[in-house]
Amino acid sequence: MLIFQRINQGDLLLQTSQFPAVFTGRTNLVKEAVSILYETNQVHIAILGAGGIGKTSVALHVMQNLLIKEKFAERCYFISCGMLPDAINLIQGLVQAIGLQVAQGKGPLDVLLAYLKGDQKVMLILDNFETPWNSKGQTEVKNLMEDICSAKSVSVIVTMRGTDGPGQIKWHKLGGQSGLPALELSAAKEAFCSFSSNGEYTIKEEDPILEKLLIQIDGMPLAIMLIGELAKELPLNDLMEMWNIQKAAVLQKIGEQDNRLASIEVSIQLTLNILGEKLSATGEDVLVFQGTEHLEDQIWNFYESFIDNLPQDSIARDNQLEQHIGNIFKILEIQIKRSFEKSHTKVLRKLCNYTKYYPGLLPLVEKHLEWKSQMILSDQTEMMFLQESILSFMGEYGKAIEVINCVEELYKSQINEEAGNLNVITSTSSISMNNTIERTQAKCY
Ligand SMILES: Nc1ncnc2c1ncn2[C@@H]1O[C@H](COP(=O)(O)OP(=O)(O)OP(=O)(O)O)[C@@H](O)[C@H]1O
Ligand SMILES: [Mg+2]
Repeated sequence: MLIFQRINQGDLLLQTSQFPAVFTGRTNLVKEAVSILYETNQVHIAILGAGGIGKTSVALHVMQNLLIKEKFAERCYFISCGMLPDAINLIQGLVQAIGLQVAQGKGPLDVLLAYLKGDQKVMLILDNFETPWNSKGQTEVKNLMEDICSAKSVSVIVTMRGTDGPGQIKWHKLGGQSGLPALELSAAKEAFCSFSSNGEYTIKEEDPILEKLLIQIDGMPLAIMLIGELAKELPLNDLMEMWNIQKAAVLQKIGEQDNRLASIEVSIQLTLNILGEKLSATGEDVLVFQGTEHLEDQIWNFYESFIDNLPQDSIARDNQLEQHIGNIFKILEIQIKRSFEKSHTKVLRKLCNYTKYYPGLLPLVEKHLEWKSQMILSDQTEMMFLQESILSFMGEYGKAIEVINCVEELYKSQINEEAGNLNVITSTSSISMNNTIERTQAKCY
C-alpha cells in the first residue's frame, strides 16, 4: 500500500537531536572538521562508524562552533534523515528545513537546486544518512547527492552508520578510514563521571572498579552514557556484577563477536531491565519518572535506525533481529505508552514483515491504535489492516472480521463527513481494503 506522507518542519524538528552537554575526547576531530570547513571553499565530510559511537554529537559540536557560525551565518541546516526514506522525501525534507517556498510551475527539486547553486555559503548536515542511502531507490539518492555536492558554495556533512560515505563523492572521512574511533580511557572516565554526577553516589575517576568497568565498555559513548546514568542510583560494584552477568548471557547467545557491539547490547539490556523493574514497582500508570525519558529516547533512537538498516541478506538480518527483538519490544512498548509518534507507526510497519514475531507485535499494534485520534485516516486504516493481518495469521478470524468491520465503518463515516472528498485516503488503500475484506472473509467461511 503506497501512502504519500507529508513531512513537515515539526516532524524534522522533533527528530533533531539535542546538543550534547557531556562531550569528551573529540576536541581534535571537531577542530579538524571546523578548520577544513572554514578554510576551504567547499568540502564534503563523512562522519562514519557504528551506532552509538558519537557521530551526531560530533556533527552538532561542529555546527555550534563560532567559526562555522561566522562563515555560514544562518545558512547551516541540520536535517535528520531518519524520517526520509528516499530521494523524494529527502528533497521535501531539505526544502522544509531550509524554509524554501515552492512556487507554482516549479518542482521542489528545481527550487532546492536553484537555492543551493546561489553564491551564498551553505552548510548541510545530513544526519543518519544511512536511512535514505539503504533504501530501494539508492540510485536516485546518489544522483541527488551528486547534484547537491556539485553546487560550489555548498559544504556537506553526512553522518552514517558504516565505513563508506555515499556515492562517488570525494569524502573527507573524519577519524580515519573506518570512521570515528572509540573514546580513549581517560575521555571515557571523564564522560562517565559527568553522566553520573548529581546522583546518590560520587564516583572518582581513579576508582579501580570504574577502570575495570570502562575497559569492558570499550570506549562506546552510548554505553558509557547509559551505564553512567545508571550509576547515579546504583553503586559501581553492583553495576560491575550486573554487567558481568549480562555480558556472559549476551556472549552465550551471539558468541565472541565484535566487543564494541556486545558492549552496546549489554548496556541497553541492563538499562531496559532496570527501567522495567522500576516501572513494575511504580505501577503501570506512572510511566515517566525522573531521568529515564532521556535514556529511553537514546535507546529508541538506536533501535529506530537499527531496524531501518538491517542487512539485505536474509540470514544475517534474521540473526540480528533475533538477537535484539526482546529489547525492541520493551522499548517500543515504553515509547508507545508514552506518546503518539509517526516513527512508531513506521517501526511497527517494518516489524510486520516478520510473521514469527506476530504474537509479540499484536499488543503493540493495539496499544498504538489507542492513539487513533491523533493519526491521519490512512495511517489509522493501515494500522488496522496490520492488526487484521496478524489476527488472521494467528487464526483469530472472528476478531479479524471485527477489525475489518470497524475499518468499513470508519471509511463510510469519513465518506459521509467529507461528502465524497476522498483525498485523504488513496485509491490504492481503498482497493487494498476491499481485497483485505474479501481475503479475510474467504478465510473465515
Ligand atoms: N564524545 C562524547 N563524550 C560523551 N558522550 C558522548 C560522546 N559522543 C557521544 N556521546 C553520547 O553517546 C550517545 C550516542 O551518541 P550519538 O547519538 O552522537 O551517536 P551516533 O553515532 O550518532 O549514533 P547513531 O548511529 O545511533 O545515530 C549520546 O547519548 C551522546 O550524548
Ligand atoms: Mg546519530
